[in-house]
Amino acid sequence: MSSSSVMHIAIFASGAGSNAQKIIDRFRSSSHIKIALIVCNKEGAGVLNIAKTEKIPSLLINKERFFKGDAYLPELKEHHIDFIVLAGFLWKIPLALIQAYPNKIINIHPALLPNYGGKGMYGHFVHEAVIAAKEKQSGITIHYVDELYDHGNIIYQATCDIDEADTPDLLAKKIHVLEHLHFPRVLGELIELQNRS
Ligand code: GAR
Repeated sequence: MSSSSVMHIAIFASGAGSNAQKIIDRFRSSSHIKIALIVCNKEGAGVLNIAKTEKIPSLLINKERFFKGDAYLPELKEHHIDFIVLAGFLWKIPLALIQAYPNKIINIHPALLPNYGGKGMYGHFVHEAVIAAKEKQSGITIHYVDELYDHGNIIYQATCDIDEADTPDLLAKKIHVLEHLHFPRVLGELIELQNRS
């Protein structure tokens, strides 16, 4: 943890940011968890508006420096970041960042890993693949991040049933409900556990 007793979290997101919003809401009045930075790789992404409205500093990152430079470690340090949450962040995490934050980076994936994960399996593509395979269930996976896509140790999974009439869009809605319900809670519990150990 940073020198103060407040855990500083950076949320990395590439899209609309509905999960980021739920996490911000959950910890808005927390005395020990602060959402200190929003990191985004996509100009114009909804999550940047959320950052602005919530008056949380944001950082727009570029590929070259993220993957081949210092992975923005100086900025993360400057904001005293202790823990990183990927909430719809679509780039792989460089090794430098994983090594700087061992067991302190988690991701949410909109399917039941180890199925329907890996490169190219994000957002809508995941739901399309699940529906095409006529699965009877899907769900969410919250996991630690390692150097492979969607691969680190699983922390939590929740499932939902898929009806015959479900389309990828309808499934996406069900998955978002699960994510919003569980992600902020699991994050809070995980941080509490890590602080105790
Ligand atoms: C979420 O469903 C998240 O699980 C998914 O992107 C969506 C972002 O929604 N992440 C991935 O697909 C990562 N492989 P949001 O911007 O509304 O939070």
